[in-house]
Amino acid sequence: MKTRSLVSIDDLSTAEILKILKLAAAFEKNPVQDILRGKVVATLFFEPSTRTRLSFESAVNKLGGKIIGFTDSSTSSVTKGETLNDTIRTVNNYVDLIVMRHPIEGSARYASEISTVPVVNAGDGANQHPTQTLLDLYSILKTQGKLENLNICMVGDLKYGRTVHSLMMAMSRWNTSFNFVAPEELRMPDEYKLYLDNLGLKYRETTDLNSVIDKADIVYMTRVQKERFSDPMEYEKVKNAYVLHDYMLTETKPGMRILHPLPRVNEINPDVDSNEKAYYFEQALNGVFTRQAIICTLLGIK
Ligand code: CP
Repeated sequence: MKTRSLVSIDDLSTAEILKILKLAAAFEKNPVQDILRGKVVATLFFEPSTRTRLSFESAVNKLGGKIIGFTDSSTSSVTKGETLNDTIRTVNNYVDLIVMRHPIEGSARYASEISTVPVVNAGDGANQHPTQTLLDLYSILKTQGKLENLNICMVGDLKYGRTVHSLMMAMSRWNTSFNFVAPEELRMPDEYKLYLDNLGLKYRETTDLNSVIDKADIVYMTRVQKERFSDPMEYEKVKNAYVLHDYMLTETKPGMRILHPLPRVNEINPDVDSNEKAYYFEQALNGVFTRQAIICTLLGIK
């Protein structure tokens, strides 16, 4: 039987997304349950992570399941030349679900096609990060009370930032007005703009954050993805492109909230942290409940 994986946010229908968000809300009310007893989840992280891996592990532990895996592929048999194919086929013997982060775009789709258990894409290169998107949607719903007709300002590295690619695709379902704020070198790739064009949705591109921030319901800040640059000089040119300061928030909407998938480097000054519009640490907490909902959905438990 073909298992259900989550590789791209477009693997889920709108009804399925809303069901996961509803389930996440139930887990937020009651996060400690024994419904994964006997289940084993693998976290295979070929790239570094703090939030995604630890929130998945927290999610499984709170539900009574067990976690195995690696946080550094140099401790796995990949260093001996083992292929991803063989790694997945082997891990399939040990677990009920695989959470995988990998630097190569398309690796998660490849793994899902081989695997006999569900594969969750925890980030594949600059491509997609669908579980981040689900926790972002949950955070938007919690803070705005709705997903429809919002103005979202995406700021920073829109070229390499997989979180903005997934989130843009998801939010296109709810008549979102998008403002893409990026330096010329890090603009939203054409394939994603074409995605919006095909849906007949409007977006605006600008390099000037101040010209659009006052209209935003959500300001989604992102880090410049240093690890994706082949030329370090190119990174140096754009690394300080946008830095959000507290004084820049005075004219913003009262209900506006600042999201960031984290980690941040310098794109949000710490003086923003105490502003009520800063929501990024609560957003990271929402990752636990959302990932509980994702795991249970893919395992057919809820
Ligand atoms: N948001 C996110 O993916 O963070 P990590 O890289 O720490 O997992």
